[in-house]
Order: sequence, then C-alpha cells, then structure tokens
Amino acid sequence: MFHIILFGPPGSGKGTQSEKLIAAYGLKHLSTGDLLRTEINNKTALGLEAKSLMDKGQLVPDDVVIGMISAALDANPGTKGFLFDGFPRTKAQAEALDNLLKLKNGEIGVFLAMQVSEEELVKRLLNRGLTSGRSDDTNEQVIRSRIVEYNSKTSAVADYYQQFGKVVLIKGEGSVDDIFNALSHEINARMA
Ligand code: AP5
Ligand code: MG
Repeated sequence: MFHIILFGPPGSGKGTQSEKLIAAYGLKHLSTGDLLRTEINNKTALGLEAKSLMDKGQLVPDDVVIGMISAALDANPGTKGFLFDGFPRTKAQAEALDNLLKLKNGEIGVFLAMQVSEEELVKRLLNRGLTSGRSDDTNEQVIRSRIVEYNSKTSAVADYYQQFGKVVLIKGEGSVDDIFNALSHEINARMA
C-alpha cells in the first residue's frame, strides 16, 4: 500500500490533481472537505455543526475529522492506498493519522506540498465561486480567513512530516498537466 498526502493552501489545486492521481494510480481519494460537504447536504448533526465553521473559513474540530477519516479507512480495507486531500490540517490530525495507519501496518509514502501565491489562490477561488455553489468561495473575506487559518494552523503540518524526510515541494502554478507530471514524477520515484 502506498499512501499520499496532497497538501497545499485553499485553491492550490488539491481536488483538481486528486482526480487525476486517483485515476492514474488506483488510489482511494479521501477529502475531508468533500466528506464534510456530504454531511451538510444530508443535514446531519455533524454537518450542521461543521457548516457554521466552514462558512466562516475556520477549521472544524480535530476529533470530528479524525473520526471521519478513521471510519473511511475501516470502510476501505482492500485499497491499493489512500490519497489524503485537505487532511491532516493540524499536528494533532497528523499524529492521529500516523497512529491509524500504523494499526494497519501502513505509513505515508510521500507528502506533496503544492506552492501557490496568495493572490493566485484568491483569484482562483473567487472565480470558482461564480459557479461552485460553495458558500466559502463567494466572499473574499472568507477566502482570506481560510488562508489565514492555513498559515497559522496548517502549514506547520509540513514541518511535522519534514522530520521523517517525506516532504516534497511542488510548484502549483502553471498548467494542470505540468503540475500533474511533476507530482507523478515524485510518486514514481518513491513507489518503485
Ligand atoms: P476543503 O474542501 O479541503 O477546501 P480547501 O482546502 O479550502 O481547498 P479547496 O477545495 O477550495 O481547493 P483545492 O486545493 O482543492 O483546489 P481545487 O483543485 O478545487 O475544506 C473546506 C473547509 O472544510 C475548510 O475551510 C474547513 O472548514 C473544513 N475542513 C476540511 N478539512 C478539514 C480538516 N482536515 N480539519 C479541519 N477542518 C477541515 O482548485 C481551485 C480552483 O482553481 C478550481 O476552480 C480549479 O479549477 C482551479 N485550478 C486548479 N488548478 C489550477 C491551475 N493549475 N491553474 C489555474 N487554475 C487551477
Ligand atoms: Mg478541494
């Protein structure tokens, strides 16, 4: 099994590249943002709690997302590997993920961190907000709050994986295909 963390700020292209990577490598895509939006659409108690935080651009509590990921790992026993998108977002989530994978005799194979400038992120997300229906994309203030949340709480997750030598920085600006090729190159070098 080969597990990948696709990391980067809001709008850096995690979802876009995940679609291509799962098709190329046969991985199971686990996006905590997508899982939370499903809970919101289903109007569950968890979804209602998460929505008020997501609409402000703030992270939902660690125990909520760790519980969702734990359930998803258990629900997919035969997979070739997981592609984590938007998770882990705090050091506590990273430690919990490592422990959950250890229970299954697994570990993260590579941590791919996409680098995109803040102005490009805001431009992409405002543009997507015209059609996405995502309430956290329509207001520039909320988009900037998501980026602040990333800088203050999430970027440190890269430092955590750096100590294990798993971090690779990838330029996240340019064509989608060029970025995909750069990501694939790093995965191929480690999967063999
Ligand atoms: P989440 O759903 O994870 O959103 P995000 O991290 O804010 O990122 P996005 O999904 O907006 O962007 P992306 O990086 O996937 O980029 P995309 O490919 O879509 O989280 C949402 C919220 O849920 C959080 O704010 C938080 O409240 C909560 N949450 C989720 N996980 C959590 C966790 N683990 N802990 C706590 N809370 C959690 O691309 C963006 C746009 O750019 C698209 O329009 C795309 O077409 C375009 N684009 C992509 N690539 C390129 C390119 N190369 N050139 C030009 N445009 C491009
Ligand atoms: Mg996404």
